[in-house]
Amino acid sequence: MNKQKFIDLNFEFQSEEKMLENSHDFYKKMDKRRSVREFSNKKVPQEIIENIVMTASSAPSGAHKQPWSFCAVSNPELKHKIRIAAEEEEYKSYNGRMSEEWLKDLEPFETDYNKPFIDIAPWIIVVFKKPFDLVNNEKKKNYYISESVGIAVGFLLSAIHNAGLVALTHTPSPMNFLEKVLNRPENEKAFLLIPIGYPTENASVPHLKRKSIEQVLSIYN
Ligand SMILES: Cc1cc2nc3c(=O)[nH]c(=O)nc-3n(C[C@H](O)[C@H](O)[C@H](O)COP(=O)(O)O)c2cc1C
Repeated sequence: MNKQKFIDLNFEFQSEEKMLENSHDFYKKMDKRRSVREFSNKKVPQEIIENIVMTASSAPSGAHKQPWSFCAVSNPELKHKIRIAAEEEEYKSYNGRMSEEWLKDLEPFETDYNKPFIDIAPWIIVVFKKPFDLVNNEKKKNYYISESVGIAVGFLLSAIHNAGLVALTHTPSPMNFLEKVLNRPENEKAFLLIPIGYPTENASVPHLKRKSIEQVLSIYN
């Protein structure tokens, strides 16, 4: 191991009792996270958004390439442009592009092509994945791009929830309109659109049940 290239790990050992408490508390906290579609227009300070994005950007990534970039949009005209373009794609999806089975699966959510929350939420974060980096106009390969960006978005959603805000993971596909509206470089491909803010006072969410531990975990002792 090249000592000059390595630093000491910053790690604190904790008692099993404390770890049990931490893991339980974090699970209970995360289990309260919900996707919200009814946003208030109450402002959220930019610094909170910056902290949330930097939490996302602390995620692991293939060969530490961090193959992501985030656009945080609060500009009302730009949000409106995004809404119009997203609704155009969603209209086509709900009226022909999505299969009968898909539409049936979406029924419990009572969603349609209207996306007013893009105008209303104080911030929209658009996540881009970068299949390659551009260094002095030269293409440099990135690895496990979708896996890495997916993990970063997991961190992002956790950070939003931890901050006391709500979000929606939104995919108005195809999403290449976001690259055009936000004038992104050729190596960035839109990955997700995430409105962030506060819920309305009387916001409601679909009554969902999450899978049990038996359904999702197999232990091999
Ligand atoms: C990759 C992905 C794409 C999604 N796309 C949409 C979307 O376009 N519109 C929407 O209303 N919800 C979307 N959702 C939200 C899901 O419907 C939601 O996560 C799911 O119903 C579980 O609800 P919960 O997030 O409250 O636990 C998406 C979620 C994920 C992970």
